[in-house]
Amino acid sequence: MFSTQLPIIQAPMAGVQGSALAVAVCNAGGLGALPCAMLTPDAVATEISRIRAQTSQPFNVNFFCHVQPEPDADRERTWRALLAPYYAELGLEPPPDRQPTRTPFDADAAAVLEQLAPPVVSFHFGLPAEPLLQRVRATGATILASATTVDEARWLESKGVDVIVAQGVEAGGHRGMFRSDEVTTQMGTFALVPQIVRAVSVPVIAAGGIADARGVQAALALGAVAAQIGTAYLLCPEATTTAVHRAALASDAARHTALTNLFSGRPARGIVNRVMRELGAMRPDIPRFPLASAAILPLRAAAEAQGHGDFSPLWAGQNTTGCRAISAAELTRSLAD
Ligand SMILES: Cc1cc2nc3c(=O)[nH]c(=O)nc-3n(C[C@H](O)[C@H](O)[C@H](O)COP(=O)(O)O)c2cc1C
Repeated sequence: MFSTQLPIIQAPMAGVQGSALAVAVCNAGGLGALPCAMLTPDAVATEISRIRAQTSQPFNVNFFCHVQPEPDADRERTWRALLAPYYAELGLEPPPDRQPTRTPFDADAAAVLEQLAPPVVSFHFGLPAEPLLQRVRATGATILASATTVDEARWLESKGVDVIVAQGVEAGGHRGMFRSDEVTTQMGTFALVPQIVRAVSVPVIAAGGIADARGVQAALALGAVAAQIGTAYLLCPEATTTAVHRAALASDAARHTALTNLFSGRPARGIVNRVMRELGAMRPDIPRFPLASAAILPLRAAAEAQGHGDFSPLWAGQNTTGCRAISAAELTRSLAD
C-alpha cells in the first residue's frame, strides 16, 4: 500500500524520537514516521529534509489535531495545589504560566506539507477542519488517522481518510480517542481490529500491544494490512528516549502500566510511577489537554536531574517484551520475520 517491503509501521512517538528512527525503519523496509506534535513548522521542514537526504523510501509525518482549550482558572488552581507539596519537597519555585507544549495541526503546518509533499500524513485525536484537510489531500499524500472505537472508524471513513489505524487500549502513549472521552469505550486490539475491519471498507492498520513477529501475524490474521508498533522501538539507539525512561522500560516496573491524564490532560498509557500512585492516575479536575503539562514539567526536569522518574511520563504499552536495545533496522526485520 505504501510501497514498503514489510507490513511494519513504526508508530510516530512525539517526545522520544525524530528523523533518525524514521530513517532507520524506512531503510529496513518498514514505514518510518516523524512525530510533529512538539515541533515548530520550521523544525518539521528541517526533519523532513533530513529524512529525504537519507532515504528514498516513503515515510509518514504525524500531527495531533486537538482543539486548544480555554484556560480554566479553577482547574489550574486545583492542579497547582495538588503539586505544591512536590514543589516544596524538591525545593522548586511554583511554575510560571507556560505556553502549551503541543500544538494542533494548523495552516502553517499545512503550508510545510504543501511545500515538501511527504508521501504519508497521519493524524491523532481526529482530523483537522475540512479546509485544512483538503489542503493535505491536494498534496497527494495518503492520509491515515487513529480510531479507538468502531464509531470513530466510521466517522473517519466518512471524511475520506485513506487508511485507519485501529489503536487498541494496550497501546503506549496518548489514546487517539476523539468522539468520546469515556475511557470505558476503549477496547483491546484483539476485539477492536476485527470489528473495525468489518465496519469500514478502507484498509486497517492494527496498533497496541504488538511486540514481536507472532503479534504482527495475529494482527494480519485479524484482517489488518499492517501492524503499527511503538513501545518496542523505545530502547533502540535511534530513539531519543531519556535514561530514566529507558531504565523503567528495562525494569520489572514496566509490567504495570495504566492510563493517566496527569502529564498532559488526556488519557495516555505509561508505566505507573509515584505521582500516578499518589494523586490517582486519572483525575477529572485538572487542566485539559495539553494545559496540564505546564505545571508538572518543572517537577519532571528536577526529578530526572536527580536520576528518577517520579514525575515523568514513562509512556509504554502493556506489552514491553519487545523492547530491546538493538538497532531499529534489526528490530524492524525481526518484527517481520
Ligand atoms: C512514547 C510514545 C509516544 C507516542 N506518541 C504518539 C504521537 O505523537 N502520535 C501518534 O499518533 N501516536 C503516538 N503514540 C501512539 C502510537 O501511535 C501507537 O498507537 C502505539 O505506540 C501502539 O502501541 P504499542 O506502544 O503497544 O506498540 C505514542 C506511543 C508511545 C509509546
